[in-house]
Amino acid sequence: MSRDDDKRLAAEAAAAEIVSGMIVGLGTGSTAAWLIAHLGERVAAGLDITAVATSRATERVARAAGIRVVALDDLSDIDLAIDGVDEIDGDLRAIKGAGGAMLREKIVASAARRMIAIADGSKRVERLGAAPVPVEVLPLARGFVAARIESLGGAATLRRHDDRSYRTDQDNVVLDCAFGTEIDSVALAGQLAAIPGVLGHGLFLREIDSAYIASDGVITRLDRTR
Ligand code: A5P
Repeated sequence: MSRDDDKRLAAEAAAAEIVSGMIVGLGTGSTAAWLIAHLGERVAAGLDITAVATSRATERVARAAGIRVVALDDLSDIDLAIDGVDEIDGDLRAIKGAGGAMLREKIVASAARRMIAIADGSKRVERLGAAPVPVEVLPLARGFVAARIESLGGAATLRRHDDRSYRTDQDNVVLDCAFGTEIDSVALAGQLAAIPGVLGHGLFLREIDSAYIASDGVITRLDRTR
């Protein structure tokens, strides 16, 4: 079984929780792409859902798959959000945002009554922090925010794309912030959110209710217990 097979298995396991009539938040990234492809097939076969997308890329792919997508600003309640992760621990705390969509992803996750993470086994960690924490920053605050992050013990690197600073769907920049695995993620999430100019960050500590993680074809489901 390849990692792609595992991503597909995790995505399809989570998709089994989707029924007609639901408003569904669609994640961003390669694992969510399997979800969208699978849902496209189910919609063609009669599943009646409305989707909200966590990125422009997801919106494009979902529409192309025949899924009805409405704007996030028209919604306040979402039944179920399903999204990938970059790291996830046994308490369903995660780092997200390698694809730069963490701000919309967190809004959708927070608006959803239930959120499911989907991942291949490479994303499962004992402690968060080997991956950098992506932080979306108002461009004019970049230097100030980077200095604040350094003072919190992080190493902030401006994300680049095609020799320019990467821009999010909201036209902001991203600082990828390496803190290491000794972080107190709860304290750090609060400290990052409190820096003026920070618009969002990729620490998802309370949003995820369940996870489907597939390793070598075996799917494990984790549920939040606290
Ligand atoms: C997008 O910004 C991210 O949060 C993705 O959800 C995360 O990076 C997982 O992506 P993959 O499924 O491609 O690994």
